Amino acid sequence: MRQRLDDIKAEALQAINAADSGKDLEQIKIRVLGRKGILTKILKSIGTLPPEERPAIGQLANRYKKEIEAAARAREKLILSSSTGTHIEGLDPTLPGRPLPMGTLHPITQIMDEVCSIFERMGFTVAKGPEVELDFYNFEALNIPADHPARDMQDTFYIDHKVLLRTHTSPIQIRTMEQQQPPVRIIAPGKVYRCDSDVTHTPMFHQVEGLLVNRDVSFADLKGILTTFVHQIFDAETAVRFRPSFFPFTEPSAEIDIQCVICRGSGCRICSQTGWLEVLGAGMVHPEVFRHVGYDTEEFTGLAFGLGIERITMLRYGIDDIRLFYDNDLRFLEQF
Ligand code: DAH
Repeated sequence: MRQRLDDIKAEALQAINAADSGKDLEQIKIRVLGRKGILTKILKSIGTLPPEERPAIGQLANRYKKEIEAAARAREKLILSSSTGTHIEGLDPTLPGRPLPMGTLHPITQIMDEVCSIFERMGFTVAKGPEVELDFYNFEALNIPADHPARDMQDTFYIDHKVLLRTHTSPIQIRTMEQQQPPVRIIAPGKVYRCDSDVTHTPMFHQVEGLLVNRDVSFADLKGILTTFVHQIFDAETAVRFRPSFFPFTEPSAEIDIQCVICRGSGCRICSQTGWLEVLGAGMVHPEVFRHVGYDTEEFTGLAFGLGIERITMLRYGIDDIRLFYDNDLRFLEQF
């Protein structure tokens, strides 16, 4: 058996060293190492040898297999690098490859990821919902009355009278609460759609919704979470202001302004000379919303917030036209 293995190896190495094309090499490899190759057959038949011979023969056969494989690889390299082996006219395998430019993440994606990871570090988990949504989740369960201006055809893309493209990520609040009991602590990033287009509005844009429900959730929690968020996404020096506002699904409601990142509060065109920029809507979840999902309004309270990713991105990078994000102009996108 040893003799036979030695013969196979010697013959294989000789053939490999005489091969002068990839094709020749391939045939040798199939003949010796292929599924029905001569060495493979021996390896498969080791079990039929007397037990005391098996280990030594097995080791030898495996060692020869490796040597033959290594010789084939070495020969292949040699064939490739010598012009005699390259049968494709005009191909120079020694030329360096052409570099493929690496793409970068879209600025909206980058800020979206950053916003989500800030909230994830505070213990929120990501929830998702459909972009084609029912009127019930987008409006009704959020306590948005039939005569609310947002329900107008001018503002909402309706598919039929019950189905629409979601106008905000708030419906995910309802879908999440329908599925689980408190405590709830989610953020919901996604695309939203409104029939609107100018330098600060595109028909599709991105929002992140936040919802936290538990016993004893207070407005102080809301202030703490959102102030921390602003300090992380902008910087720790940025002043924050909570201004009373109105949303049908929260009571009380607030809009959160930050000190203008362009003029630092002294007044400029971007902040309309006020020194402040609105960045978030928020509030304590309205009991009417809890009633729609069957939560006990005596036992639980909740806070909610929503923010627009395009707006945050524009402020972060000093971009003054939202349409730049969607023109797909590489001169713009490559800067991020
Ligand atoms: N859904 C609101 C919008 O699209 C944003 C918002 C405001 C979400 C207040 C909230 C909230 O959860 O509490 O303008």
